[in-house]
Amino acid sequence: MSSVPPITLNDGNTIPQLGFGVFQIKPDQTAAAVRSALEVGYRHIDTAEMYGNEKQVGQGIRDAGLDRREVFITSKLNNGYHRPDDARRAFDDTLSALASDYVDLFLIHWPLPTLYDGDFVSTWNVLEEFAKDGRARSIGVSNFQIAHLDRLAERSQTVPTVNQVEAHPYFTNDEVRAHGREHGIVTEAWSPIAQGKVLDDGVITRVADAHRKTPAQVVLRWHIQRGDIVIPKSVHPERMKSNFDIFDFSLEGSEMDAITGLDRGEPGRTGPNPDVFAYIPD
Ligand SMILES: NC(=O)c1ccc[n+]([C@@H]2O[C@H](COP(=O)([O-])OP(=O)(O)OC[C@H]3O[C@@H](n4cnc5c(N)ncnc54)[C@H](OP(=O)(O)O)[C@@H]3O)[C@@H](O)[C@H]2O)c1
Repeated sequence: MSSVPPITLNDGNTIPQLGFGVFQIKPDQTAAAVRSALEVGYRHIDTAEMYGNEKQVGQGIRDAGLDRREVFITSKLNNGYHRPDDARRAFDDTLSALASDYVDLFLIHWPLPTLYDGDFVSTWNVLEEFAKDGRARSIGVSNFQIAHLDRLAERSQTVPTVNQVEAHPYFTNDEVRAHGREHGIVTEAWSPIAQGKVLDDGVITRVADAHRKTPAQVVLRWHIQRGDIVIPKSVHPERMKSNFDIFDFSLEGSEMDAITGLDRGEPGRTGPNPDVFAYIPD
C-alpha cells in the first residue's frame, strides 16, 4: 500500500522515510487524526510525552484496525525527566499510554545543556538500557547540536540512530546534518514546511507550478531527496493525503539547489535554539 521508502538505521532497524507528526494536535482530535493518517497510508507516527497525546495515538492505531506491529511509533522523553530514575518512570508511562510493550524509536527530546549540570550522557545511558531490554527498538536524540553529539560519542558506547532537528528551506541546518551523515546518524526534519511559513515563497511556488504539485509537496520532496526523514503534521485529511503523495515526481538538481539557497541561517529558525532552550513543562 505504501510507497514510502524505508531507511536503514545504524542498528539495522528500518524506519519509513515519511511519517506523520502529531505536535499541537489536541488530545481529543488525535485519535481521529492518526486514524485518518493511517487510512491515507502513513505507517510512522511521531509523538512525544510533551505533546500530551500518546494515549490517543495508541487509540488511533487501534481504531484504524491495524496491528501495533504495522506502525512505526516514535516517542520522546520529556524535559523534566532527564534524571535516570525519572527517565525510567517516564518511559514506563509512555509505554502504558501507548498501550504497547515497546516503542520503535525513543528520543531525548532536548539536550538541555544549561540544566542538569549539562549532563545528558547519564540520560542517554538510560535509553541504552531500554534498547538493551528491547522495549525501545531504536534510540536516538532530538535537537542535539554537534557539540552535544561529540560529547555522547566520547562518553558512551552507542551512536544515536537519528537526530530529529528543525530543518526546512529557511533553516537547512546543514552543518548538523553533515555531521550526522559522517557519523551514521540519520537526520529527521521537524517543522519540515516551517509550519506553513515557506509555502508562499516565490522560488517554491515556481518549482511547484513547474511540476503541477503544491508548494508543500515540493518542500517535502526536497527533504526526501536530501535523504532525511520527514514528519509533516496536519489535521486535515486532504492535506495528509497530498503530503503523502510525493513519490511520483523528482526535483532537478537545479531546483534542489534553488530551494536549499533559501537558507537564512540562524535567523531562519522558527523554534528555540537548543544551546539555550531550558523549558520544563509544569
Ligand atoms: N523534536 C522536536 O523538538 C519537534 C519540534 C516540533 C515538531 N516536531 C515534530 O515534527 C512534526 C512536524 O512539525 P510541525 O507540526 O511543527 O510543523 P509542519 O509539519 O512544518 O507544519 C504543520 C503546519 O502546517 C499546516 N499544513 C500541513 N500540511 C499543509 C499543506 N499541505 N498545506 C498547507 N498547510 C499545511 C498544518 O495545518 P493543519 O494541521 O491545519 O493542516 C500545520 O499548521 C510535529 O508534528 C512533531 O511530530 C518535533
